[in-house]
Amino acid sequence: MEQRIEPARALLGELTVPGDKSVSHRAAILGALAEGTTEIEGFLEGADPRSTLDCLAALGVEWRRPEPGRIVVQGRCGTLVEPSRVLDAGNSGTTARLLLGVLASQPFHAVLTGDASLCRRPMGRVVEPLRRMGARIDGREEGRALPLAVRGGALEAGEHRLAVASAQVKSALLLAGLAAAGPTGVAEPHASRDHTERMLRSFGAQVEEASGPQGHRVQLQGPAALRGRRVVVPGDISSAAFFLAAAAALPGSRLRVRRVGLNPTRTGVLEALSRMGGRIAVERRPDVAGEEWGDVTVEGGALEGVELGGELIPRLIDELPVLCVLACVATGETRIRDAAELRVKESDRIATMAEELGRLGARVEALPDGLVVQGGGALRGATVDAHGDHRVAMALAVAGLLAAGDTRIRGAECVDISYPDFWRQLDGLRR
Ligand code: S3P
Repeated sequence: MEQRIEPARALLGELTVPGDKSVSHRAAILGALAEGTTEIEGFLEGADPRSTLDCLAALGVEWRRPEPGRIVVQGRCGTLVEPSRVLDAGNSGTTARLLLGVLASQPFHAVLTGDASLCRRPMGRVVEPLRRMGARIDGREEGRALPLAVRGGALEAGEHRLAVASAQVKSALLLAGLAAAGPTGVAEPHASRDHTERMLRSFGAQVEEASGPQGHRVQLQGPAALRGRRVVVPGDISSAAFFLAAAAALPGSRLRVRRVGLNPTRTGVLEALSRMGGRIAVERRPDVAGEEWGDVTVEGGALEGVELGGELIPRLIDELPVLCVLACVATGETRIRDAAELRVKESDRIATMAEELGRLGARVEALPDGLVVQGGGALRGATVDAHGDHRVAMALAVAGLLAAGDTRIRGAECVDISYPDFWRQLDGLRR
């Protein structure tokens, strides 16, 4: 599908964004492993969480959808069923990596695969530590890429140190640790999103964390039995980010996003927008089921370039494509460093953003671990490509709003991965 975007003067109004993708995956998985029923409200109805539900169904998990956005999962007390078909994680890295952690302890054989993009993404970072815990995993490239075959069994608890901060790897190890006797510890150079830790606690597991000069460490005490519960999924700040960014850059905008997740491991984008001169106001609401949330209001105005790196990067990793777009229209230079992880997302987001923003007339230099964007130049509409990457498609849509003339985005249907309603909501807010 090719999507045409006309320039906008402003974004005006209020919106509620769909449920958080990370929290939706975790609620379905923990619900499946728990004892009793887990009722999930605000579940993201996108292709990625659907992949998780589909894999869980193949593993014997019963779930139903009494109405849109509400999923009821019948827990299996930690015991899944050997699947009679290949588990397909589709485009979803979170599905693949978290399920590898779950399958590692299940006493049966399972094969996991994904789409072409997911089959290119690194799995060795999960497979190697799981093997150290005792899991038997084999597959393409010595087990570093999907498809992978897992024969689960007894696991040993232990200590892991991740070379790069990754919530997916950390979560896979904690999920494996549920079945191992003793403490499973995971240390990262910087704290990545902690939805798994929060949800494990709210399902009754014992999880501790500590930050120090060496980074961030979490520890789960296993074996742990989980108790199903009601989970309310906040709006996804990574989805809100496209609207917040566009509104911040379009003078005359005033936009309010309601009930969006404000977990501090995810709010780096609000800090980056403020540092760029964006006018952002946050009203926090009481926590729900261990997650913080609230309303965010942004007003449009002039933006300036910024340096982004270090501990901030894991807290805004998925928002870097849209922040690159803002950097093009901000005054001065923007430098993004320490973000080599962007190269192994749904697309190589450093290469794709440099290439596609270049087509729109921006001056963007790709670095091995980031980008340098020269601001101040005007964007002009052109035909661009989403590279099958939902966040690239939506970031390019924001670029189209800010550009002179029309922009056409090829392959725009990939927004269904995380935000099926994106184009309709955008139409309703643009002026
Ligand atoms: C996610 C973690 C992040 C993020 C991804 C979702 C998660 O990836 O980029 O979109 O749900 O745990 P990494 O854990 O690989 O950094």
